[in-house]
Amino acid sequence: MRIRKAVIPAAGFGTRFLPATKAMPKEMLPIIDKPAIQFIVEEAVKSGIDDILIITGRGKFEIEDYFDRAFEVEEVLRRKGKLDMLKKLEEIDNLADIHYLRQKDMLGLGHAILKAKSFVGDEPFVVLLGDDLVKASVPCTKDLIHHAEKLGSSVIAVEEIPMEKVHSYGVVDAEEVSNGLFKIKDLVEKPSVEEAPSNLAILGRYVLMPEVFEYLENTKPGRNSEIQLTDALRAMNKEHDIYAKKINGKWLTVGNKVEYFKTLLEFARDDPELLKVLKELGL
Ligand code: UTP
Repeated sequence: MRIRKAVIPAAGFGTRFLPATKAMPKEMLPIIDKPAIQFIVEEAVKSGIDDILIITGRGKFEIEDYFDRAFEVEEVLRRKGKLDMLKKLEEIDNLADIHYLRQKDMLGLGHAILKAKSFVGDEPFVVLLGDDLVKASVPCTKDLIHHAEKLGSSVIAVEEIPMEKVHSYGVVDAEEVSNGLFKIKDLVEKPSVEEAPSNLAILGRYVLMPEVFEYLENTKPGRNSEIQLTDALRAMNKEHDIYAKKINGKWLTVGNKVEYFKTLLEFARDDPELLKVLKELGL
């Protein structure tokens, strides 16, 4: 089994980051000087994926433009002799084979993934959410693929979070089978502290077996009247093993202003020029 396809759902409205996301996709929010979605595509590529489908929607054309060749800009850079930047832009053009498909009605993450059915076919595939980043020495997706190929099962990424935050995430009820690898007993979407079976939250990285599409097709709209991926995985887990893998790295998101700000600071610390600025500001 070789996993070579990825789906990046990026059609959501990004209501938690309005008004910034009124006229720009949240996946294009810059992490210093590189949009979040480029980190996601690079993670997929570093994990051995060479065929990527981005699910877009209204107001998301910047994503397609970004991965397309920008002849005019490239020409100006060539003329001005700015060859380092030209090389950077050419690398973006050539990152991967990227396809696009529009989700016309925003009926939820599960619905967005269902759109990818004919692209994926009968193969296991990876899902990377456009607003979650994982800073890690071994790409999170590569680690999940490693376990999924060994187990022949779906594997989803999880991370321990403070109990008081479980109401914002999907959470798993799971038994540890080896270091950081869990067999899932059940999944619960946004539970209260009392209902939560653990503090292991599901983040935006999944390796899924193709049977997930059958379950997505049979999933009725749930919370917020959206087709929830967690509901489909819950039904699938009753008939097929699903595993959870704790990430080996740091989970960062761009979904709202607080998390986005923390993500910026985290990346700024890796850049000597910006680290100097943070120190000057006493941060
Ligand atoms: P979120 O739950 O973060 O939703 O979606 P959102 O609309 O992007 O943001 P908020 O909550 O309104 O602020 C998780 C991922 O699923 C995609 C989003 O683009 C994001 O990457 N998604 C969500 C879709 O592609 N389609 C949908 O209908 C919903």
